[in-house]
Amino acid sequence: MNYHENDITTEQLSRKFYHFAELQAIGHSPLYEKICYGIAADNDVLHLSGYALVGQPIPNILLASVHYLLLKGAQHPLAAYYPDVSEAARPFDDVYPVFHDFCLQFRDEIKQQVAVRLTQTNETGRCALLLPVFNMVAERAKKPLALIEVGTSAGLNLLWDQYGYRYSDGQTLGISDASLVLQSEVRGDQHPPIPASFPVVASRVGIDINPLDLHDPENALWLRALVWPDDLARAKQLQNAINIAQKHSLELIKGDALEILPRVLENVPTDSVPCVFHSYVLNQFSPENRERFYELLQELAAQRDLYCIGIEHIGAHVKTEVKLAAFEGGVRSDTVMAYCHDHGKWIEWIAG
Ligand SMILES: C[S@@+](CC[C@H](N)C(=O)[O-])C[C@H]1O[C@@H](n2cnc3c(N)ncnc32)[C@H](O)[C@@H]1O
Repeated sequence: MNYHENDITTEQLSRKFYHFAELQAIGHSPLYEKICYGIAADNDVLHLSGYALVGQPIPNILLASVHYLLLKGAQHPLAAYYPDVSEAARPFDDVYPVFHDFCLQFRDEIKQQVAVRLTQTNETGRCALLLPVFNMVAERAKKPLALIEVGTSAGLNLLWDQYGYRYSDGQTLGISDASLVLQSEVRGDQHPPIPASFPVVASRVGIDINPLDLHDPENALWLRALVWPDDLARAKQLQNAINIAQKHSLELIKGDALEILPRVLENVPTDSVPCVFHSYVLNQFSPENRERFYELLQELAAQRDLYCIGIEHIGAHVKTEVKLAAFEGGVRSDTVMAYCHDHGKWIEWIAG
């Protein structure tokens, strides 16, 4: 069978879930590993997953849609298998028939979610990677930062100076009065340059094709649903960050970054330095738009100096890189500042 929406066959869908179990869930989520092997052989559930928007990672969308309904209070025995839904979660060896039953019983609700949702996981752990580079930019430009986050999701990483930081080499920042402290292991010979105080932020703007305003509890629930149900530490960190964000009012602009960025940059006053940043976003751009994004920055840098920090894992790179592209005097220079864990659990600073 071919699905109109995704132009994808049942066999291709099955392979996606099989690969998800084999390559992504293994070692990280025993629950999702078990469930995805089950889905790979279950035409009813594969059919439901085929309604995902074109270009979205189908297993993530289906799993998060089910998780969302459970977090929202759907009454079904499946809830007892999800550690972040039921306090004393059951062992999950026999979870699959229960998962299948949930999908049939809540077929319409799942379809409604799958057909509109985007993967917008917002990971605050990445702020431990951004902090030393934000500080370098502020020192280099000798100006407050005008932060512009591309692919901001709910904007949690724009609030990086509201969090505390504890690095395994003993460096800390802001931990005494933070309700969320991010921890990162320092690997390698060098210490990431952590300042004694946060650099000054003049402004913060997030751009996203679908910004998630966390004052709407539905959006907070979707972000929680994207975190795997057996990663309780990550769920707690996210909830802490959501609580902080709900006390702030962020400027989040809806639209394609390639269209919005020029206008946002034009509005940055000259007494601050534009610092664009993006993490786990460019993988959602087409290869042409990825190239266009940096061309656009180069064009905009003809007017003024600007900086762009990128944390991306695209293609066959062995490690995720934290990169700084500096556009100074119209000339671009790229430096790999660090290698890192995808969620900031470790950082290997290499930039000297
Ligand atoms: C995986 S999330 C990452 C969120 C955040 N940067 C982080 O690291 O936690 C990717 C985000 O990029 C957004 N996005 C994808 N393509 C975009 C585009 N062309 N313009 C603006 N945002 C985009 C998605 O909507 C999504 O919220």
